[in-house]
Amino acid sequence: MDLQLLWVGFFLCCGFWTLAFSDQDVFLSLSCGGTTTFTDSSNISWIPDIDYVSTGNTSIIDNGEGGSFSTGHVRFFPDTRARKCYKLPLKNGSSSVLIRAQFVYKNYDKLGKPPAFAVSIGTAITTNVNLTSHDPWTEEFVWPVNKETVSFCLHSIPEGGSPLISSLELRPLPRGAYDDGLLPNQALRKSYRINCGYTNGSLRYPIDRYDRIWDADENFKPFHVSSGFKVEANFDSIQVKEAPPAVVVETARVLARRDELSYNLPLEEQGDYFVILYFGGILAVHPSFDVLMNGKVIESNYTVEMGEMRALYVIQEQIKSLIITFKSVKFYPQVNAIEVYQIVHVPLEASSTTVSALQVIHQSIGLNLGWEDDPCSPRTWDHVGCEGNLVTSLELSDINFRSISPTFGDILDLKILDLHNTSLTGQIENLGSLTHLENLNLSFNKLTSFGTDFENLSNLKILDLQNNSLQGIVPDSLGELEDLHLLNLENNRLEGTLPLALNKGTLEIRTSGNPCLSFSTMTCNDVSLNPTIETPQVTVVPDRKKDMSSHNSNNHMPITIIACAVAAVLLVLITLSLSFLLYMRKHSQYTAQPTYSTKAAMELRNWNAAKVFSYKEIKAATNNFKEVIGRGSFGSVYLGKLPEGKLVAVKVRFDKSQLGADSFINEVHLLSQIRHQNLVCLEGFCNESKRQILVYEYLPGGSLADHIYGKNKKSVSLSWIRRLKVAVDAAKGLDYLHNGSEPRIIHRDVKCSNILLDMEMNAKVCDFGLSKQLPQPDATHVTTVVKGTAGYLDPEYYSTQQLTEKSDVYSFGVVLLELICGREPLSHTGNPDSFNLVLWAKPYLQAGAFEIVDERLRGRFDVESMKKAALIAIRCVERDASLRPNIGQVLDDLTQAYDAQIAYLSTFGL
Ligand SMILES: *[C@@H]1O[C@H](CO)[C@@H](O)[C@H](O)[C@H]1NC(C)=O
Ligand SMILES: *[C@@H]1O[C@H](CO)[C@@H](O)[C@H](O)[C@H]1NC(C)=O
Ligand SMILES: *[C@@H]1O[C@H](CO)[C@@H](O)[C@H](O)[C@H]1NC(C)=O
Ligand SMILES: *[C@@H]1O[C@H](CO)[C@@H](O)[C@H](O)[C@H]1NC(C)=O
Ligand SMILES: *[C@@H]1O[C@H](CO)[C@@H](O)[C@H](O)[C@H]1NC(C)=O
Ligand SMILES: *[C@@H]1O[C@H](CO)[C@@H](O)[C@H](O)[C@H]1NC(C)=O
Ligand SMILES: *[C@@H]1O[C@H](CO)[C@@H](O)[C@H](O)[C@H]1NC(C)=O
Ligand SMILES: *[C@@H]1O[C@H](CO)[C@@H](O)[C@H](O)[C@H]1NC(C)=O
Repeated sequence: MDLQLLWVGFFLCCGFWTLAFSDQDVFLSLSCGGTTTFTDSSNISWIPDIDYVSTGNTSIIDNGEGGSFSTGHVRFFPDTRARKCYKLPLKNGSSSVLIRAQFVYKNYDKLGKPPAFAVSIGTAITTNVNLTSHDPWTEEFVWPVNKETVSFCLHSIPEGGSPLISSLELRPLPRGAYDDGLLPNQALRKSYRINCGYTNGSLRYPIDRYDRIWDADENFKPFHVSSGFKVEANFDSIQVKEAPPAVVVETARVLARRDELSYNLPLEEQGDYFVILYFGGILAVHPSFDVLMNGKVIESNYTVEMGEMRALYVIQEQIKSLIITFKSVKFYPQVNAIEVYQIVHVPLEASSTTVSALQVIHQSIGLNLGWEDDPCSPRTWDHVGCEGNLVTSLELSDINFRSISPTFGDILDLKILDLHNTSLTGQIENLGSLTHLENLNLSFNKLTSFGTDFENLSNLKILDLQNNSLQGIVPDSLGELEDLHLLNLENNRLEGTLPLALNKGTLEIRTSGNPCLSFSTMTCNDVSLNPTIETPQVTVVPDRKKDMSSHNSNNHMPITIIACAVAAVLLVLITLSLSFLLYMRKHSQYTAQPTYSTKAAMELRNWNAAKVFSYKEIKAATNNFKEVIGRGSFGSVYLGKLPEGKLVAVKVRFDKSQLGADSFINEVHLLSQIRHQNLVCLEGFCNESKRQILVYEYLPGGSLADHIYGKNKKSVSLSWIRRLKVAVDAAKGLDYLHNGSEPRIIHRDVKCSNILLDMEMNAKVCDFGLSKQLPQPDATHVTTVVKGTAGYLDPEYYSTQQLTEKSDVYSFGVVLLELICGREPLSHTGNPDSFNLVLWAKPYLQAGAFEIVDERLRGRFDVESMKKAALIAIRCVERDASLRPNIGQVLDDLTQAYDAQIAYLSTFGL
């Protein structure tokens, strides 16, 4: 049968395919365990994988064994505990990316034991690789892009040996490709990609610009007639985003007689599959045929028009094998290419609030628990439990937390919280938001009072408070916990009567080891009922000027000692006066806000500095909130343009603890008076219909983070002198907040993304103010809800919740370390030792070992200048706040480092 007669030569102008063969620029091809860069026969350049992974050993695969498919190298992971992850960058502009990995064993270790292991991408376990059955083993995925990076990880399995990998490739796909009918949380794993009718090997880049590998059509029986048509096709109506290259479409499997053409494709496992059939009108006729899958008609009388490219997308649910049949209606059934993918369900990620709360907790522990990426998927973190993507249990013990930080209150879905033996002191607090909590274990701590949180914990079933220092009576709120069936109060200092509501058959209550605790008032002796003993907490009033660390030690005096020593009357007096002192101190601490009363609010429009905007004006300026330029601690920031043409950054506050109107206006008033060349200037605000909007000057240079990490097009790599200049500028801004402004202000969220640059690369600090000013000139600290950014948070502030300027100094020290090392404060790749920038960098810098300096700076800095900056950075991140310098000293040292670098550059005439 001479099908050649049928070919029609179309005019060729296939603009679609031949565009830009510089696609390679966006490819990432990692030779795992490789040491050199090389270009292969497809003109693809391969690079070593060392920048994308930080664990594992490397080896060479003998050429004889490795064969043509191998890069000749392998990375293997003998440590069965640690995660082995590659952090792959995802290029924006594409909605999905092709990820291809190859695993080659070929007896590289001469042990003859091919390993087996699991592979995950992002939150999904995608495959169980077993190199006994195939070696090499290739996996390919079409993965949705919704963040900047994705983790590609290997997981050991019992008796599986050392996981290994030889190559990893990343190829961005065009927008909209492979998403017909798929949900956003679905990804694809390749089963087949067949270049129908073509038998001479597989084709890939540069023929396929996305470097998909199109396999030859030869393994399928019965073998029908197939034919290559040297047609230069002009498929003018190509709407198929993922269309194969022309060369692939030019060949088809065509059935010569009116009959059935079928493909029998065995599948590795039962599941949902996504099938794409491509048809190109390469024949001079319009063939029509029925398309069937596993015997069911998918399309009847499907027609392929001449010169047209069409595709059929079909999802087949829960199938074990796939038979595709084409039944002739008119002329000859044909198919030009087939792709079959298994649908991978990608579990949802845990909420970002939960993740960042857990990260803050992780950081405060100071141990590496291996908490990286998502807490729930693909593998649940140690000490954490999940239901779906909800973190429902957290169990930490034998560490030193000192107090129940508000961060715990952000893990909203918790049902089980176990913090036994974590050195907790003070009140049970910050848990009121955990309304799903069922099991709370705070045993073996030094907690002294109940607090009020139990009113909200209505689902509590088990409450274990044994072996604490709880004093006084048991509050009635415990009686209102209807589901409670175990209450352990053993070994505390509780006394008095228990709430009667607790006296019910469904509740097991344990009270031994307390001075006197029962349902009846009569059983207790007089002494313990003496009301003077019921003092909540005899805390020695700390000396205001005293070092912070003394606050942390346990100053609670045992009541009994005092009671023995002092007569009851005297005790009452002391107690009263202490309470009075405490009250005064607390009172002055919390309420002595500078009062810019409503008078100020009334005179809003007369302010010379800040301008009052109406919501309408804001909407007009931001073009209805069109362009988001950032996300701050309270909400989104939009680009705006004032009528006079000035560009502004408009920050819309979104915060559940939104300030009342009066305090908002008071604070804005304060902020508007703060003018400093290194602080971003407040241009005005809007406070209408519950919206609190701040208008700041716009800085076109982007943030320091953009520049260090190149997240933004505007970014340029900063030289050492530039970095020092930025540091000096930012230190000046902070110095003004701490020492120059009235009232003094603690920034609370110093970080690279809060340091902005103008056109001339002058740096200004932003996002200060709003509920963060010090209450009065002589107060040494404020007690606040711990907020901040993981990685920058002062560990002492975290544990004491007492905020001082030194917390800003700590965060600024982290910024300095980032400038020096060019890496982020918390790195989720890498080995455990390098997880935390501060812990990692300190020993190196202390030893003057500058190999950890950002490689973009190497050989371009004066050693003295670097020493000076490194030293001050290390001092800023001292754990003990009293050892940290104040910002003024930091500024002095940075200025000296800057001068040293200037002198160094001038010796080169630069
Ligand atoms: C190989 O790729 C480079 C760009 O990466 C390109 O400049 C060169 O022309 C290509 N060579 C061939 C033979 O295609
Ligand atoms: C892997 O490397 C580590 C350190 O680089 C070494 O101690 C260990 O022996 C190596 N393991 C194997 C199996 O080669
Ligand atoms: C990626 O691009 C889209 C639009 O092209 C944009 O909305 C999104 O914010 C970008 N994401 C990142 C991480 O840059
Ligand atoms: C890998 O496959 C081989 C045979 O194909 C089997 O004997 C072995 O148990 C498998 N290994 C694992 C860890 O599943
Ligand atoms: C198959 O491809 C090789 C090159 O890859 C070529 O030399 C050979 O001529 C081709 N054979 C046919 C039948 O096209
Ligand atoms: C198939 O469809 C064509 C038009 O697309 C129509 O003319 C023809 O009658 C149909 N044949 C059958 C058997 O349904
Ligand atoms: C409590 O934790 C400490 C370590 O912080 C440990 O040494 C001690 O044995 C633990 N006590 C109990 C009772 O588990
Ligand atoms: C709370 O933790 C302690 C210490 O591990 C344990 O002995 C106790 O049984 C736990 N309580 C409950 C109710 O599980």
